[in-house]
Amino acid sequence: MRGIVKRFNEGTPAEITILHGCDVDVQEGEFVSVIGASGSGKSTLMNIIGLLDQPTSGTYHLGGTDVLAVADDDLAQLRSRKIGFVFQNFNLIGRIDAAKNVEMPMMYAGVPPRERAERARELLDLVGMGDRTGHLPNELSGGQKQRVAIARSLANSPDLLLADEPTGALDSATGRLVMDLFHDLHRDHGMTILFITHNPELAGETGRIITMKDGLIA
Ligand SMILES: Nc1ncnc2c1ncn2[C@@H]1O[C@H](COP(=O)(O)OP(=O)(O)O)[C@@H](O)[C@H]1O
Ligand SMILES: [Mg+2]
Repeated sequence: MRGIVKRFNEGTPAEITILHGCDVDVQEGEFVSVIGASGSGKSTLMNIIGLLDQPTSGTYHLGGTDVLAVADDDLAQLRSRKIGFVFQNFNLIGRIDAAKNVEMPMMYAGVPPRERAERARELLDLVGMGDRTGHLPNELSGGQKQRVAIARSLANSPDLLLADEPTGALDSATGRLVMDLFHDLHRDHGMTILFITHNPELAGETGRIITMKDGLIA
């Protein structure tokens, strides 16, 4: 992406510019951290990278597609096929079990029931949660919830995994396990990962660190 600007409440007295022209390049297969003070614009940038929000100006190519030229309907498709999300607070659906949570993105992508149940089981195995497939989120610890969320993020075999402070709500030992899982996905599955964190030690374990300061890449 080049020159990404994000303004909120444009044209009103509450207008505020959050991103002031960000250039970001991420190569396929990279594991990159994004660090920066709270309020520096990390999540705003991630929402744009993840096609959850549109910039006010700038250009953005994702795997060769000029995504800002894509129609809204197609954007949702693109997002569900290309991008996996992991959030600080897991964002699991509380009334359905781990397996159904992992199936959810596949349901939206139109994967047939038997196939998605099978893949959910495989993904939960992959993250070490194969013995908890029938558990509801409130029957799981924070680290277990995050592993289910990571399995869910992989459901549609995304090209890019976006993780916004995925260890931020976990104690350090549990955060360690989650971080090791990201390393596995990167090393063994060639996953491209953008990892937002407040933890400089964890950031130091990744291939590259992008530092944000006041809405700019420092
Ligand atoms: N929808 C919005 N409207 C107005 N301001 C916003 C909106 N979303 C985020 N902001 C502001 O943008 C700044 C950056 O927020 P954010 O990207 O969440 O930072 P970070 O993730 O680095 O902590 C903050 O000052 C926040 O209040
Ligand atoms: Mg944030």
